[in-house]
Amino acid sequence: MAKISIRDFLKKKERKEKITMLTAYDYPTAKVISNTDLDGILVGDSLGMVVLGFENTLNVTMSDMIRHVSAVARAKPKQLIVADMPFLSYEVSVTEGVRNAGELARNGADAVKLEGGEEIVDVIKAIIRAGIPVMGHIGLTPQRFLRIGGFRTLGKRENEAEQLIRDAKALEDVGVFSIVIENTYAEVAKKITETVSVPTICIGAGPYCDGQILVIHDLLGFTDFSPYFAKAYVNLKEIIGKAVNEYISDVKSGKFPARENYKEISDNR
Ligand code: KIV
Ligand code: NA
Repeated sequence: MAKISIRDFLKKKERKEKITMLTAYDYPTAKVISNTDLDGILVGDSLGMVVLGFENTLNVTMSDMIRHVSAVARAKPKQLIVADMPFLSYEVSVTEGVRNAGELARNGADAVKLEGGEEIVDVIKAIIRAGIPVMGHIGLTPQRFLRIGGFRTLGKRENEAEQLIRDAKALEDVGVFSIVIENTYAEVAKKITETVSVPTICIGAGPYCDGQILVIHDLLGFTDFSPYFAKAYVNLKEIIGKAVNEYISDVKSGKFPARENYKEISDNR
């Protein structure tokens, strides 16, 4: 099947077809996803929380991202692979931002995602000039949770909605191919979606967007905590717990390993 490109994302918005994305951080998950109709895989810095057990995303480094992006890329999924630029990989200077985006591209990312609006258009512009497609990310940007004052829904307080619209326009102007809107009131995400020509991909920002994205561990019911906007389609924690308990009881009872699970010399196999 043909590789999905950033052009396909733009075409989907024109045709009013919903864009679907999920996060993935490893080879087997990307392999499974590759056989679905999903449009894009985000190797999100959420991996710091859902895979590495940190309380927020500030501890995720470029080497973490490179490790996980390259694992996903080795699965050769047909989906567009977007890699998050982690905290401090693009804020210090434009030069460092371009180099780090380049590292992610060299390790298999088809595009990178940076958190922020107007205040980071200089680095986004330089990354795009280097030939790397950029996905924007506005609304609740977890790398800025300290400044935002926690993980809250954006767009209701004074000027927040107006700033988000300005941010989206600024991102569109410098040439991002899509914009993630996270944890933002639905009316505001709707207004942004109607204002910009690039697709909006929402998480906790309502149904009026051009696409949706979820953290795959939330979808699978594989996290300790899920935000209000997540939906679990299966309870993987329960499934894993049950399998582990069955294994323990099989070992104790002698049911495992069974005859087909081991060889004896006389088997001649
Ligand atoms: O890291 C992540 O999973 C993300 C999505 C929530 C958009 O940035
Ligand atoms: Na992220």
